[in-house]
Amino acid sequence: MKRIGMLTSGGDCQALNAAMRGVVKGLSNNVDGLEVYGFFDGYKGLIYGKYRLLTSMDFSGILTKGGTILGTSRQPFKLMREPDENGLNKVEAMKQTYYKLNLDCLVILGGNGTQKTANLLREEGLNVIHLPKTIDNDIYGTDITFGFQSAIDIAADVIDCIHTTASSHSRVFIVEVMGHKVGWLTLYAGIAAGADIILLPEIPYDIDKVVEAIQKRSRDGKGFTILAVAEGAISKKDAKLNKKEYRKKVEKSPYPSVSYEVADQIKKKTGIETRVTVPGHTQRGGSPCPYDRVLCSRLGAEAAQAIIDGDFGNMIGMKSNKVTRVPLEKVAGKLKVVEPDSQIIKEAKFMGISFGN
Ligand code: F6P
Repeated sequence: MKRIGMLTSGGDCQALNAAMRGVVKGLSNNVDGLEVYGFFDGYKGLIYGKYRLLTSMDFSGILTKGGTILGTSRQPFKLMREPDENGLNKVEAMKQTYYKLNLDCLVILGGNGTQKTANLLREEGLNVIHLPKTIDNDIYGTDITFGFQSAIDIAADVIDCIHTTASSHSRVFIVEVMGHKVGWLTLYAGIAAGADIILLPEIPYDIDKVVEAIQKRSRDGKGFTILAVAEGAISKKDAKLNKKEYRKKVEKSPYPSVSYEVADQIKKKTGIETRVTVPGHTQRGGSPCPYDRVLCSRLGAEAAQAIIDGDFGNMIGMKSNKVTRVPLEKVAGKLKVVEPDSQIIKEAKFMGISFGN
């Protein structure tokens, strides 16, 4: 008999349902007697005791379904030790819910912040297993997170569509790609869709180098240029500011995001019409791609095996195409960034993609 709890926390993404289904299928096929409690809206459900006993029917037909059947919310890690507005101790409340239901384990699906809270619960003595979700692919200790490949498909599709209209009008087009503080999604979608210039947070850009790359294309007879710009991209000048100065600059900026600033500068320096497209949250929406469905089935199966083994306190990740149990204490709080001198960046530069540096 196993009694487990499950929750999805932080921004949603594709394949959350596929991952939960993987865990439940793995357990129900190999364990006699299974109870699965689903907590609603992330850690909120665990804190305030909002949950439901789920049945096998809840996990039927959800492999391809986007979003999360449990709902989600952002509960910042840094506030977890702070009492809520009614003075409730959130950590104690989560522990009480766990013990009241007599859970063997909590399966927690989420990104970096979620992982930090999962590690906190581990330190508090709860049995937890973390599954790495995020379109940003920035979770340390796993080669890939689920949601990432599905989001690449969407972002690349947007850039593909922009390509045809950019070429008809001889314009410069910027597609702003999500990814928070890292450039994985922009890098992969940019390469996949043949972007000419890719701007990442990890490689601060010089606007004159960006303009040079556009002008070189014009000299080569290419009337249009496509830029894939990460939402967290930053200029060399801004990268020199400290956190406070940079925040002030952003607050005062007349531009809704970095892409509009880059577009304005390109227009002023070249005179070429420059447009911005922001696919935004569409990148997190819709069905998971087949790669993510397979990934989540594999991660889910291993999470189930770990529960059967009684091996807790791990993230189930992927290392060199092998599903791996990674101790949370070794990875929580660390960010996986794009290394500016990595092989993929060198290859992209070798093919003539500009990173504006
Ligand atoms: O972490 C996933 C992500 O989609 C980031 O790429 C993005 O910066 C952020 O979430 C957006 O958050 P929200 O859904 O709260 O607007």
